Amino acid sequence: MSHSQPVTVPCVMKIAGTGSYVPERVLTNADLEKLVETTDEWIMSRTGIKERRIAAEGEATSDLATKAALRAMEAAGVTAEEIDLIIVGTISPDTFFPSTACHVQRNLGAVKAVAFDVSAACAGFLYAMQIARQFINGGTRKTALIIGADKLSGMVNWQDRNTCVLFGDGAGAAILTAKEPNDGDPSGVLSSVMASDGRLTDILSVPGGGSAIPITPENADQRLNTIHMQGREVFKAAVKYTLEACEQVIERAGLKADDIALIIPHQANVRIVDAIRERLGLPPERAFLNLQKYGNTSGAAVAIALDEAVRSGVVKKGDNILLVAFGAGFAWSASVIKW
Ligand code: ACO
Repeated sequence: MSHSQPVTVPCVMKIAGTGSYVPERVLTNADLEKLVETTDEWIMSRTGIKERRIAAEGEATSDLATKAALRAMEAAGVTAEEIDLIIVGTISPDTFFPSTACHVQRNLGAVKAVAFDVSAACAGFLYAMQIARQFINGGTRKTALIIGADKLSGMVNWQDRNTCVLFGDGAGAAILTAKEPNDGDPSGVLSSVMASDGRLTDILSVPGGGSAIPITPENADQRLNTIHMQGREVFKAAVKYTLEACEQVIERAGLKADDIALIIPHQANVRIVDAIRERLGLPPERAFLNLQKYGNTSGAAVAIALDEAVRSGVVKKGDNILLVAFGAGFAWSASVIKW
């Protein structure tokens, strides 16, 4: 199986604005100690997560996505009518169909857009970015809204301590626009990797509720419609593929690891981030972390982290930043972006 095909199209797209949204309700490690046999000390030392946000009753993935989108549109100075492409990376859609992207389109009144979802788990936002980039580079779309949004609280088995401590809800968005040719602005995507390995479908999945294993009155008590994960296998694959992707995009951008001002990685586990950062030879301050506040928000994680890094001024004009995410599939993606 070949991985990580190069994406070598010229850079004619820029990130015009970012936005994010997390629900108000905070679920702390202390709260989880009352639900399952766990401790704050175990969760902190194994994952780095202190608390996570949980969507309110009736708050769907598209509601989180719409709020993040409005913030990105405001930051970019773009109206709903100007958006001609909406892609939502999610594995917790409002409905099997229509797509969450169509729900977002309706909420925004983005009547001129084509809207669809992409299923790449935690790599959803970066997959959406690469797909939108092809449309913009191809000249068929000019203004894309890409969103990573997930409400995994509805898919977690709250009696399984192996998984329930890891996840949270949230959404992050970005507006991507076509650049004017020869505008002298060097910002944009310098290099990218998109890849998947379908041999690893079993190590992280929600096995039931789809066409393979529909939920029936007979199997309803087996919690097949919740997250099943082989944590150590996911950990190993995440480190291997994420590191490989980082090295590839740095090389394809014609850079050295030390030229990367900031890595904005998937926010699953601080130990995974540390392993990658150390192997790239970068100090702790070069990796952006917010997983302590939000846990793993799946497709939203890199998008929320990017927005926080931009708004807090950690990302500066001219910086080379590296976005990287991995998730169920296995699916992963990375990009070096000149800000
Ligand atoms: N509290 C206390 N003990 C726990 C908990 C908990 N919450 N969870 C597991 N344990 C126990 C296990 O039962 C096990 O006990 P045992 O040895 O008696 O069987 C022990 O802790 C050690 O378990 P390990 O699995 O070895 O723990 P590990 O150090 O590997 O950490 C973890 C587990 C945090 C899940 C880690 O493997 C990990 O982060 N994996 C990657 C997960 C990930 O990134 N998932 C998201 C991918 S993104 C997506 O697509 C949605």
